[in-house]
Amino acid sequence: MKGRQHKGYMFLTVALSMAVLSGCGKPYLSALKPAGEVARKQYDLMMWSIWIMLFVMIVVLVIFVTVLIRFRRKKGDETLPKQVAGNHKLEILWTIIPVILLVLIAIPTITDVFKLGDTKAMEKKNKDGKHDALVVNVRASLYWWEFEYPDYGVVTSQELVVPTNQKVYFQVKASDVKHSFWIPSVGGKLDANTDNINKFWLEIDQKKAEEAGNVFYGKCAELCGPSHALMDFNVKAISSGDFQNWISQMKSAKKTQPATASAREGQKVFNKSCISCHAVTPSDTRPEQARTSPNLATFGERGKVAGILSYNEQNIENWIKNPSKYKPGTKMPAFGDQLSDKEVDALATYLMELKVEH
Ligand code: CUA
Repeated sequence: MKGRQHKGYMFLTVALSMAVLSGCGKPYLSALKPAGEVARKQYDLMMWSIWIMLFVMIVVLVIFVTVLIRFRRKKGDETLPKQVAGNHKLEILWTIIPVILLVLIAIPTITDVFKLGDTKAMEKKNKDGKHDALVVNVRASLYWWEFEYPDYGVVTSQELVVPTNQKVYFQVKASDVKHSFWIPSVGGKLDANTDNINKFWLEIDQKKAEEAGNVFYGKCAELCGPSHALMDFNVKAISSGDFQNWISQMKSAKKTQPATASAREGQKVFNKSCISCHAVTPSDTRPEQARTSPNLATFGERGKVAGILSYNEQNIENWIKNPSKYKPGTKMPAFGDQLSDKEVDALATYLMELKVEH
């Protein structure tokens, strides 16, 4: 009986760790698959520290086991081995070795901290007052993300679009409570605070982006409320040429005109029930306090509904009817009682037609 129970526990442990670890190693999500310079530096630091810790562990274990075997109490031999407490040579040795190890960890850590925190390039502006570097303002709110490209007058939500093979500079803040901006396979995390702006840069390798299918997953890394774990966003990493195209399409985007009768019906519903919170053009010039809800200009191009559900009409309708079922604590009200099924259906059709790319 005991043996069977033991086997049961073993099986459970193995099954559980497999379930937990199966999330590791995905190129679009894993910090263990670095996809750019920042993530690689962070990964190298982590591995370097782990090797040093392993070295310490092995040395200590070997000494421990040796002592245990060599100096164990033997029958008929009551003599104590030679006592070494207070031995100067030994004490100096085991003080100096950890000091050396800590220095070996500290040098690359401090060097990288300064390198990764170097945002001097953000201060350079041309005569029009625009940054020389690519700057993205990130604003975190319960439970969604806004990405603003201040030099282009473009605002988007839930999906960050960045060019590969170049440094992208981020200014991160929050509009309600503390959040944290993290793209595990690209780098981070950086706190999103309400009372100051944090800055850093990230860079994504073109090749790694292709391996990941050009989309990475972003996460909120600061416990912010019941839907903290659902505060995901997508990161589209595209070549710099494609990025230039995208940004110029975003800059010149007009309101999408619905193509079908159902979408036209949906637009009417939208203008009645949604437009006071949601903008549908990427050039949203209102101050950010007025931008209380995600910009939906590119909703038809999104890979996810609300950052978490697979993108299809059914999920869009479910979300509109009862969002807090999927994201507890969301500020988005439920429209299931206010709108008829037909209206929600039309609304979903309209939303899915909201596109900027042509
Ligand atoms: Cu936002 Cu956790």
